[in-house]
Amino acid sequence: MKERERLRIKELLGGGVAEGSDVSVKGWVRTKRGNKNVAFLAVNDGSIIHNLQIVADVEKLDNELKKITTGSCIAVSGKLVTSSGQGQSVEVHADSIELYGAAPPDSYPLQKKGHTLEFLREIAHLRPRTNTFGAVFRIRHAMAFAIHKYFNDRGFYCLHTPIITGSDAEGAGAMFHVTAFELDRIPRNSDGNVDYTQDFFGRSANLTVSGQLEGELGAMALGKIYTFGPTFRAENSNTPRHLSEFWMIEPEMAFYEISDNMDSAEDFLKYLIRYALENCSSDLEFLTQMYDRELTERLHSVVEKEFVRLTYTEGVKILEQSGQPFEFPVGWGIDLQSEHERYLVEKHFRKPVILTDYPREIKAFYMKQNDDGKTVRAMDVLFPKIGEIIGGSQREDDYVKLKTRMKELSIPEKDMWWYLETRKFGTAPHSGFGLGFERLLLFVTGMTNIRDVIPFPRTPKNAEF
Ligand code: 4AD
Ligand code: MG
Repeated sequence: MKERERLRIKELLGGGVAEGSDVSVKGWVRTKRGNKNVAFLAVNDGSIIHNLQIVADVEKLDNELKKITTGSCIAVSGKLVTSSGQGQSVEVHADSIELYGAAPPDSYPLQKKGHTLEFLREIAHLRPRTNTFGAVFRIRHAMAFAIHKYFNDRGFYCLHTPIITGSDAEGAGAMFHVTAFELDRIPRNSDGNVDYTQDFFGRSANLTVSGQLEGELGAMALGKIYTFGPTFRAENSNTPRHLSEFWMIEPEMAFYEISDNMDSAEDFLKYLIRYALENCSSDLEFLTQMYDRELTERLHSVVEKEFVRLTYTEGVKILEQSGQPFEFPVGWGIDLQSEHERYLVEKHFRKPVILTDYPREIKAFYMKQNDDGKTVRAMDVLFPKIGEIIGGSQREDDYVKLKTRMKELSIPEKDMWWYLETRKFGTAPHSGFGLGFERLLLFVTGMTNIRDVIPFPRTPKNAEF
């Protein structure tokens, strides 16, 4: 059978193929049942959450059927017919079955259904073969595609910012070092410090925590750009919302002020969620049924509601007056915890909130300073169940102010001269934000642990697969 003649199960179940056609399908057996005359195989090929039922005559195909168990990979040729069974419109009556690979039942880990998500994390190499992870990873793909489409349709250019970077000054988090030194033989200067001039790049280097700074260079030339790449943070945050390697989407727009930035973030999120509702319905239905009865409803509600916009100062006031017993006490100047963010979103406003104008002491050096001398034009988008999903700001475009702020924070100018030069040569008001891709996926899929929305999660003490 030629591969190009194979039909995907999505196409077969979609009604586009005439009944009575001779078809060929390939996929993995999810279940096998039947009696001494006839066998029923439920086959999944990953194209859609639903299985295709294969009906096979035991007498005719017994040689192959004997070897087929849950997890086996097979190729089937046969006739597409209306199904008399429940739960499927069509089925295939097999003329021939070829076994590509068996899956011995005594050792195949997915032989039985109903494993916990924790157990499935330990078999990340096989979990894509479950309904749950099939659904999650198809939605992940759809969201990635929608992100590129959204920006492309609106005149943004995709800019590939570096993964290995020499600057370690963004302050977004602890960094992983990149070196070609042999770790038990690191050259040192006479003063005992590491001699990076002998290292691969002739200087210290790290994995990026964000593509923003380079993204800004792009925006100052191309107008509107976005990055979509992996970012790395070596913090020991063992929470259901943190990964050490996560993907981030960072648009950066020349001439946008903070309110344009907020409009843009809100429109972007609504577009993506609407896209999921329109294009991932069978996977969302499955996840709603299995994990989170309110999922679809929550997605609709976010698309329909206008996000609340208020300042950090107003937000803190609401929290202080709430009478809630928070684990972390609230007061002006604190970095809000997810319990605070979720109180505002889930209890107080019951819709997404964009919080702006944070104290400058808790935000990055590059954010535009307000005239009050205390706050910066930051904006965080806070979502139900998630807390912070987007962080962004208008950028400081004044050369002197930026340079002064860097000095105050002891950010070495020798590492950041190139960034400062954008303010020296043809500076312009500009803004941008970063969407955590896996945080978006947590929201869209209703999963509750970020390790379950990325194929191979990297977290402290976990990088096996
Ligand atoms: O708020 P963050 O740290 O912002 C930046 O990195 C800016 N440079 C973005 C910009 O303005 N271009 O991160 C942005 C988003 C967060 O809102 C969150 O959704 C996600 O990235 N995020 C993480 N997601 C998973 N694991 C982590 N450890 C994350 N840290 C941040
Ligand atoms: Mg943030």
